[in-house]
Amino acid sequence: MQFSLFDCRAGVTRPGPRDTEPRVSLFASSKLSAGAGPLCIVRALAVVGLLVAAPMGVVAQTVGDAPINLAYATQSTPIYGDVALKQQIGVMTPGSPISISKDQGSDGQPFSMDGWFQQGNRNVLFLGEGKRIVMASLSGSPAAFQELGETKDEYDTVWVHARIRGFIPPKALTRDQATVWQRAAKLYQSRCSACHAVHKPTEFTANQWPGILKIMAKNAALQPDEVVLITEYLQTHAKP
Ligand code: HEC
Repeated sequence: MQFSLFDCRAGVTRPGPRDTEPRVSLFASSKLSAGAGPLCIVRALAVVGLLVAAPMGVVAQTVGDAPINLAYATQSTPIYGDVALKQQIGVMTPGSPISISKDQGSDGQPFSMDGWFQQGNRNVLFLGEGKRIVMASLSGSPAAFQELGETKDEYDTVWVHARIRGFIPPKALTRDQATVWQRAAKLYQSRCSACHAVHKPTEFTANQWPGILKIMAKNAALQPDEVVLITEYLQTHAKP
């Protein structure tokens, strides 16, 4: 078994890649298979720890009107500048961490997202300075924009640390980032193993994977949102 991570996926009920509607909702959790690998067991213990700790007030993240919670888009998700979700200003990639202030019903969920822009280009928000893992592509102005600082990388590119605010459909979110990566890993395994054994994510760096995917996505006849999901998965699990 190449990846102990894949053991986890065996017991996870997820929609197939063609089930486009996100069935993963807030607080969705994964089922663990009987033959769970060490990683799963660690994760299971962590979940048990959370369940035990939460009622005791140890865990800051609580259900309901908790102050700030981390959440993740389950798939490529439109971002809006208004709470009515009328004016789209960009797209958020699956698995990118955002902060949400409260749970919302049918209207837009307010969120903030911290990331890095290359100076002079506010169209692409990256997860880290110098690491081209896309968190969001922006075509319009976010509801709010705040600079948090800046830094230069080894190629003299200036990276601007920034926080953007906007609104997204609340149904597009999960609290459990692992479920996003499990779905991605499953897709990767099934679609990228037809011609050769799947390459470990750690075989290439975060900046190498997009170029490889550009070529291989055609080989595997992937849909654009499938390319994004697999790219994000491989980049976030890449060689450091
Ligand atoms: C239709 C067959 C086919 C499919 C499907 C396919 N590949 Fe490949 N892949 C190849 C071939 C042929 C090579 C070796 C030649 C080359 O590098 O183009 C290769 C090479 C690679 C390499 C090594 C590149 C290097 O520089 O060493 C990686 C990584 C890779 N594929 C990833 C993927 C991913 C990710 C997917 C799924 C999106 C995928 N492949 C799907 C045919 C395929």
